[in-house]
Amino acid sequence: MTRLNPIRLLAAAALAAPALALAAPPAAPNGIALPEGYQDWRVIAPSHREDNKTLRVILGNDVAIAAARAGKTRPWPDGSILAKLVWKDGSHAAWASATVPADFVHAEFMIKDSARFKDTGGWGFARWKGLDQVPHGSDAGFVAECFGCHQPVRDNDYVFTHPAAMP
Ligand code: HEC
Repeated sequence: MTRLNPIRLLAAAALAAPALALAAPPAAPNGIALPEGYQDWRVIAPSHREDNKTLRVILGNDVAIAAARAGKTRPWPDGSILAKLVWKDGSHAAWASATVPADFVHAEFMIKDSARFKDTGGWGFARWKGLDQVPHGSDAGFVAECFGCHQPVRDNDYVFTHPAAMP
């Protein structure tokens, strides 16, 4: 029988650790894991905030896109995930009046699961900051900040975004 060599095991773990760290940033303080593959989701709408000079794009997973395209978003169905990616406003080097994405600010998510997130309108909230995807919030209480600010649109299932018209 081959015996496991502890030195070799340690070496293998040391080699694997950085790869694992790259693959999965830590979960948000409320236990939500970063949704996989969101960079490849499709567009629901872009938006721009004048007050803090940021460009945003709101994306949906397959369930959310199907609901958006069918106009069935009140309420959004369970399994929908909305992602919002935010960049600081930049100016195009060859055309100054064209606003283009500069530094990446954060990616944030609303995950619809009416049973798991019944205390926050059926939505689980989470945010990861910067290109290195650091979870936002020192404890699970950060969700009050998100849910609180989404109250003006509670009659629209707590979602600000209206799917943009497209042919
Ligand atoms: C200061 C108010 C405010 C706070 C705090 C806030 N949001 Fe929002 N959120 C908005 C507004 C306004 C929009 C729509 C405009 C836009 O695109 O930014 C929005 C949009 C979103 C969207 C796209 C879906 C939608 O509702 O349009 C997601 C996802 C989202 N927020 C997640 C979060 C998460 C997660 C948190 C907490 C970490 C959070 N928000 C905190 C104001 C807020």
